[in-house]
Amino acid sequence: LDDAIVSDGSDVLLFLSRARTYLVRAKAGEKFHTHKGFIDFDQVVGKRHGDVIHSSMGVPFALFKPTPYDYVRKALRATQIIYPKDVALIVAYSGIGPGSRVVEAGTGSGALTSALASSVQPNGRVYSYEVRKEFFARAAKNLARAGVDEYVVLRNADISQGISERGVDAVVLDLATPWLIVKEAHNALKGGGRLVAFSPTIEQVVKTVGAMDAGFVDVETIECFLRRMKVKAGSTRPEGVMRGHTGYISYGRKIFR
Ligand SMILES: C[S@@+](CC[C@H](N)C(=O)[O-])C[C@H]1O[C@@H](n2cnc3c(N)ncnc32)[C@H](O)[C@@H]1O
Repeated sequence: LDDAIVSDGSDVLLFLSRARTYLVRAKAGEKFHTHKGFIDFDQVVGKRHGDVIHSSMGVPFALFKPTPYDYVRKALRATQIIYPKDVALIVAYSGIGPGSRVVEAGTGSGALTSALASSVQPNGRVYSYEVRKEFFARAAKNLARAGVDEYVVLRNADISQGISERGVDAVVLDLATPWLIVKEAHNALKGGGRLVAFSPTIEQVVKTVGAMDAGFVDVETIECFLRRMKVKAGSTRPEGVMRGHTGYISYGRKIFR
């Protein structure tokens, strides 16, 4: 398997710890400097993803193949990006899979787009709307680098002005005013298609779910708490500090009115 090996000129995720990872291009003859010594790419090229190499200071780094989400997480971000716990639930509740057609807004930095694209490949499509030109341009770069751009159609447009697609499997919203898009999302969805909206505040949820009263059933809003564990023999327990809030996820299925 070609992609089991780090080839010359390919990207690799250098893993030191959960907080210290580096997404770099492995080029024979070159070096990469870290605060734990430098990495000699001559030692990296030809190794397997999953191998462990040592920096010039003898510190171990594991080599991994970057995932699409790693690229967007590491890329220059234009906007707040969605956390993996929320990405996973949004993908699950959208009901999408290989071959699905999904409308998304706003693209932002493209983190959620990369996960949606990974889910619908190889023959599905994500039609992603972003109103701000500079975010649209940056997301295009991020998605190309992540290798998922062929599954995405980016539209530099205000989604409240209309959705071009019809009969789509899901509409996924992460923008400030999702309730303004509910009617247009209903028009774009196929019967039974899901609308999923991510919103940081309860005010947004109340307006969005109110708008979904007409034309959607099985409407639910959830919030997911994620608590990390410190696993150490004899003293395993939850970490003392956790992220208290990211956002609420509201979803429902389209019925014909
Ligand atoms: C929180 S960010 C989305 C982040 C994205 N989900 C990610 O994971 O990278 C919200 C984005 O929606 C865009 N936006 C807001 N209203 C919009 C509209 N009516 N049409 C299209 N994009 C919109 C904003 O410009 C912003 O980039």
